[in-house]
Amino acid sequence: MNRGLLPPISDNLHPLTFLLLLTCFLGFSGGGVQAAEPAPVDYSRDIAPILRSYCSGCHDDAQREGKLSVETFAQLRKGGEDHGDPIQPGKATESFLIRSLTGEARPKMPPKDEPQIPAAELATLKRWIEQGAVGPAQDVSILQELVTPNLPAAREARPYSAAAYAQDGKRLALARTGEMEVWDTTHQALLRSVSGLPGKVNAVHFSPDGAQVVAATGVTGLRGVAQLFETGTGKLIREFGGHTDVLYDA
Ligand code: HEC
Repeated sequence: MNRGLLPPISDNLHPLTFLLLLTCFLGFSGGGVQAAEPAPVDYSRDIAPILRSYCSGCHDDAQREGKLSVETFAQLRKGGEDHGDPIQPGKATESFLIRSLTGEARPKMPPKDEPQIPAAELATLKRWIEQGAVGPAQDVSILQELVTPNLPAAREARPYSAAAYAQDGKRLALARTGEMEVWDTTHQALLRSVSGLPGKVNAVHFSPDGAQVVAATGVTGLRGVAQLFETGTGKLIREFGGHTDVLYDA
């Protein structure tokens, strides 16, 4: 009995057992291939940014070099005047897009004096085509998509937004969002710090005798409140609410 390339199996092995072994063997190798498959490439997330950075300068709706626009997936697939659809789904190395990027085909893209596509991005494009060159759910212009730069968070800056001296010049009220401070100007010492003010403080004023201080505060477009405090203790004496926009003064 000639078993060719099949694993050596005893002649009296039951055919069904053999079949089971074979299925196991095939099943295993199949699973292995699946596990090695690269993560799916997403057009909007992975491909559009590449086209936007390296191609759209010459191939948008306004420029259309070679009559090709890459602004939408549909236009990319329509292709240019000489080569038509530059993508053969599932066949990256045969796709004109990849061949022109690697220089295998003319014209070489991007042109040689332009920023070239880095190897990692080229690999992403290839993988996308290999995986079937799936388009976006909503084919909008890649130039219209909101590009949000990843900016580092601003350092916490808490500027004062209001300041006022008492009439005798001995007290200074300083305020910012949610807070007000009363300072002794003679000794440059912080006397009171009041927190919990309901928004940005736009103005502070002392009463003529200096015993009270009023803060104009609130949230822009939402509500405005004037809060009256006892200067010495920082105690809230009264609140004048009911305004539908932030107070700019009191
Ligand atoms: C600096 C401008 C410029 C940039 C950037 C550029 N191209 Fe081009 N592209 C051209 C010009 C000009 C032509 C047509 C002239 C030619 O055939 O040489 C062309 C032609 C093409 C064609 C052939 C269209 C056809 O069927 O006739 C393809 C495909 C193409 N470009 C793809 C791309 C891709 C993909 C990118 C980005 C990776 C890119 N190009 C970047 C200028 C550019």
